[in-house]
Amino acid sequence: MTSRVIKTDDGSLTLRHPEVGEAYHSLDGAASETRNKFILPSRLSERLAHGPVRLLDVGFGLGLNCRAALSCPSTHPLHIDSLEREPQALDRGLMLFPGDPLILSLRASGYYQNASHTVELHLGDVRQSIQTLSQPYDLIFHDPFSPVRNSECWTVELFAEMFRLLNPGGALLTYSQSKMVRAAMHEAGFIIRDTPVPAPHRGGTLACKQGTGLDPAPALPLRDPTLNASGHKIRSLREAEIRRAST
Ligand SMILES: C[S@@+](CC[C@H](N)C(=O)[O-])C[C@H]1O[C@@H](n2cnc3c(N)ncnc32)[C@H](O)[C@@H]1O
Repeated sequence: MTSRVIKTDDGSLTLRHPEVGEAYHSLDGAASETRNKFILPSRLSERLAHGPVRLLDVGFGLGLNCRAALSCPSTHPLHIDSLEREPQALDRGLMLFPGDPLILSLRASGYYQNASHTVELHLGDVRQSIQTLSQPYDLIFHDPFSPVRNSECWTVELFAEMFRLLNPGGALLTYSQSKMVRAAMHEAGFIIRDTPVPAPHRGGTLACKQGTGLDPAPALPLRDPTLNASGHKIRSLREAEIRRAST
């Protein structure tokens, strides 16, 4: 099956994933989603003005978040570990950005380097890749498909792995404001805040370890105790928990 190219409302392009059936980015604007939900609220430029930054990029996809992070003005080095399940994502990225040096280099060697920044691509399921990582990160960009279609990426157990890897002053950014997602982050130990995002985008979530946050609305989170269940199984576990809670 082929991926369909979509022009989003800010004029930037994205693709629809042929099996998942969702676009890689918001139809309100792919480039503006990257800027407003990840780059600006993460204060990446300010962080890079103060010292080196390590970023965990969950869901490399077509590389928009990664490329935007690399283009932030900086006086210090940025290292990105990018996690992606599908090697085809890189080929799809090249459909949109033919000849892109970042994607070409990651596809050839799993590594990219420019004058001051580096990117390492970890191909495989995030749930396994993340368990091999031990260095702390200043930022995590969490950008899988939606919790309904990509449930394994939104569980208490996966967020607990991210909590383990985040520096005390770090932040996890995601586009979702779902109650079930925030409940999972909260149970994993995170403090939850809204990311202020200009219209037409809806706000996302900033999760951190320090300071004050919102009381998350009551919701049952997704769970994946062994970090290897299918999405169907993860959703069924939650539905069974909801049934038990209502009897
Ligand atoms: C919404 S797209 C990411 C868009 C990307 N951040 C960008 O800026 O172009 C979601 C990506 O997450 C990847 N993904 C989904 N489930 C995954 C998993 N379990 N492990 C690793 N990657 C996964 C998908 O293959 C897809 O490329």
